Amino acid sequence: MTNNANVNLVTGATGTVGRQIVLELLSRGHHVRALTRDPAKADFPDGVEVVRGDLADPASLGPALEGVTGLHLITFDGGLFAPLETGPEIVELAGRAGVRRITVLNGGGDTPLQSAVQAGGIAWTVIMPVEFMANALEWAEGIRADDTVREPFVGRLSAMVHEGDIGAVAAVALSEDGHGGKSYLITGPEALTIQDKADALAGARGRKIEVVELSEAQAVEQWRAAGHPEEVIGFLLEVYGNTPPEGRTPINTVAEVTGRPARTFAQWAAEHADAFRPRS
Ligand SMILES: NC(=O)c1ccc[n+]([C@@H]2O[C@H](COP(=O)([O-])OP(=O)(O)OC[C@H]3O[C@@H](n4cnc5c(N)ncnc54)[C@H](OP(=O)(O)O)[C@@H]3O)[C@@H](O)[C@H]2O)c1
Repeated sequence: MTNNANVNLVTGATGTVGRQIVLELLSRGHHVRALTRDPAKADFPDGVEVVRGDLADPASLGPALEGVTGLHLITFDGGLFAPLETGPEIVELAGRAGVRRITVLNGGGDTPLQSAVQAGGIAWTVIMPVEFMANALEWAEGIRADDTVREPFVGRLSAMVHEGDIGAVAAVALSEDGHGGKSYLITGPEALTIQDKADALAGARGRKIEVVELSEAQAVEQWRAAGHPEEVIGFLLEVYGNTPPEGRTPINTVAEVTGRPARTFAQWAAEHADAFRPRS
């Protein structure tokens, strides 16, 4: 049954995290609106209201914000993740629409949009995940081709988090009291090396995977070939080569906020095993 008293607008809804927030709110019986710049491409289950809007053009958000009580925001514009500069206008529109709670997916440091939300008068919660388990999908093509993962810094540890758990934390913060003014660092339940992750994927798909360590120069070449902009490549070298403690130390946020344990990478691998199997 839908709880129509709470209308939630999720931006970034067609993306890795936003989609999970939409599904989690829906499963909890809340009314969910999914914002996209292109509704024709959006694919959501029945019960999700899809609305058009562009965060870089706040005037386009009027109909989407009508009656909204919970608002989830991303901090960037477009595929190259340019920081959105429209935060003050969006917060102003949200206040006028009657929004009571805002969650923000942290985009690395203090972005202008996050600062605008924190300076506004609406209860905010910052959702600050470490590395997403979904990043492992970047290995799928190589694993399907020759059973190999090619990465630099293979001994690095990551407390990577299941994107469904990020969605669950955000859904709780959007729909329940007690989370205003908090920044939630969200990790998975264990710190894993590249080899640990490859072993979990091999177990899930039933076929071995070899890990080959790349030099920094080889990694840069691979990321450029994949189309990553230079700033992203610099960021990857920094966090992979020198992962800060918060990126490699499991903490208990998921269980504390949602009441459910954080999902393991083995669970994620079982859910996505087909993506890593050779195409027949
Ligand atoms: N990958 C990681 O390990 C990691 C870890 C921690 C934090 N993060 C942060 O997570 C964020 C990326 O999240 P994600 O992976 O879920 O995103 P994503 O899968 O890349 O999806 C991007 C989403 O942004 C929407 N979008 C882009 N520009 C927009 C605009 N101008 N107006 C409205 N919607 C717009 C797109 O919607 P439409 O195209 O449908 O309009 C799409 O839903 C970044 O801020 C990153 O810093 C990532």
